[in-house]
Amino acid sequence: QTKPRKPVLWYHFQECTCCSESFLRASHPLVGQILLEMISLDYSDTLMAAAGEQAEAVRNQAMKDFYGHYIMIVEGSIPLGSPGYCTIAGRDAKSVFEEGANGAEAIIAWGNCASSGCIQHAYPNPTKTEPVHKIYSGKPIINVQGCPPIADVMAGVITYILTFGKLPELDNMGRPVVFYGRRVHDTCYRRPAYDAGLFVQSFDDENAKKGYCLYYMGCKGPNTFNSCAVIKWNNSVSYPIQSGHGCIGCSEPNFWDYEPLYSH
Ligand code: SF4
Ligand code: SF4
Ligand code: F3S
Repeated sequence: QTKPRKPVLWYHFQECTCCSESFLRASHPLVGQILLEMISLDYSDTLMAAAGEQAEAVRNQAMKDFYGHYIMIVEGSIPLGSPGYCTIAGRDAKSVFEEGANGAEAIIAWGNCASSGCIQHAYPNPTKTEPVHKIYSGKPIINVQGCPPIADVMAGVITYILTFGKLPELDNMGRPVVFYGRRVHDTCYRRPAYDAGLFVQSFDDENAKKGYCLYYMGCKGPNTFNSCAVIKWNNSVSYPIQSGHGCIGCSEPNFWDYEPLYSH
């Protein structure tokens, strides 16, 4: 209770803001606990009351006060094709990103956009956008993958960093092993159907009604590392496969370039 809350600056670049939407549904711990008791969210384009010059002033002050000690959160990828593709207060995304990264103790890349570029990075990548780890080095970077990441995975990553004062163990794609160490296929409740050769052949057939395996509907669970089948979504209610749709591999780099998405 006497420990000062960790300063956090949350940046948005090319993204859809659903990583923020997901985070707002964190329940372990609750998002309110994270924001009011665990971190000091000193800058966030979408969650702060301030806007325009006030918001810029707050960010500049926080960078100055906590230089070298704040956590930078990045939502979105950074376009390199033209300085005009993504601007904040008239400045190009790359310079705003680098300024924030230079003063950060560590960088959390939220979601597929910041971790691997997501849909805007799909061929032919018209804005020449790149994820954080492709354009910056020299600081610890953690890729919290997914489009978006699971809320309680986001909450778990923040809790780990604050509790142990370091990043958790990462896999060879920069993802925390504790949440991305198993394939969706390894923990899927439809796995017995896969092993028994019981497959859905079209989305409205009898086998779909019986809850058989979605592999022939293009499920990418066998190649996708995430906790969806364990932690699940919306307060542990369900996950894509449980709602009848195959996994599209949203926690893997370049999943939008899978050809085709709806075939194994
Ligand atoms: Fe949106 Fe997906 Fe990018 Fe998150 S990773 S900002 S959910 S497009
Ligand atoms: Fe594997 Fe997908 Fe079938 Fe589940 S639905 S068992 S993840 S192929
Ligand atoms: Fe994404 Fe597949 Fe989970 S599409 S939400 S990793 S089941």
